[in-house]
Amino acid sequence: MSEATPRVAIVTGAARGIGAATAQRLAADGHAVAVLDLDEANTKETVQAIEAAGGTALGVGADVSDAEQVQAAVDRVAAELGPPVVLINNAGVTRDNMLFKMTEVDWDVVMNVHLRGAFLMARACQKYMVDATFGRIVNLSSVSALGNRGQANYSTAKAGLQGFTKTLAIELGKFGVTANAIAPGFIQTEMTKATAERLGIAFDDFIKGAASQIPVARVGQPEDIAHLVSFFVSEGAGFVSGQVVYAAGGPRA
Ligand SMILES: NC(=O)c1ccc[n+]([C@@H]2O[C@H](COP(=O)([O-])OP(=O)(O)OC[C@H]3O[C@@H](n4cnc5c(N)ncnc54)[C@H](O)[C@@H]3O)[C@@H](O)[C@H]2O)c1
Repeated sequence: MSEATPRVAIVTGAARGIGAATAQRLAADGHAVAVLDLDEANTKETVQAIEAAGGTALGVGADVSDAEQVQAAVDRVAAELGPPVVLINNAGVTRDNMLFKMTEVDWDVVMNVHLRGAFLMARACQKYMVDATFGRIVNLSSVSALGNRGQANYSTAKAGLQGFTKTLAIELGKFGVTANAIAPGFIQTEMTKATAERLGIAFDDFIKGAASQIPVARVGQPEDIAHLVSFFVSEGAGFVSGQVVYAAGGPRA
């Protein structure tokens, strides 16, 4: 049986990595997708991939941590694609450092993109979801929420997103809106590549080392996360809300 009603979805940080795979997956599921990233020009590749596969996409440039840019982006999506009732808060950055070397800027940038960004996006989209008595919010957390050396800022933000998710589930549930979080383990993207570079390890070796610690004996791919997003967004997942699913190839990676 085919998936139900096509919706309008916004995926933040969708120029590449997990966001790009998620945007493509939601488009393949039949949704019109706003591919949002810092610079509209960088969304082109994802937009073209979706269109080449027969889907509908709109590239939108916005910094999710900027309230005015978020409002303008959401207004534009509503005007050009329709009411955004699916929101995937995926945009993310790392500014890793041991606590004693971490600057205020390292701290603030990470909080602003992950926490303020998810808050601003959800606040701007919720009225469309409430009006439609349907909504799906998926926030990207991380296994780092459990604590990770060198990531005091990032692990705090990713744990914060879990509390945010649960509160949205409680506040918006009666309007047909679910909110869930995905906490990925090691996913092969530019983000993990940058981590390998910072540690001075070749990316291939970094991947091999990570895979040896993961029960399913491989690292994750962006499509692994997109698959779980697709489930949370589906019509049938309306009774699953406020959950955090660790997608890490095992109980913890
Ligand atoms: N890769 C992993 O192993 C992993 C693991 C756990 C969680 N995550 C989370 O998954 C999400 C995606 O990660 P990824 O590996 O694909 O990262 P990535 O670095 O490949 O992509 C992140 C995207 O977010 C965009 N972005 C950054 N700041 C933004 C802002 N202020 N406004 C709009 N867009 C912005 C970037 O331009 C980029 O396109 C992030 O939230 C990340 O923290 C990743």
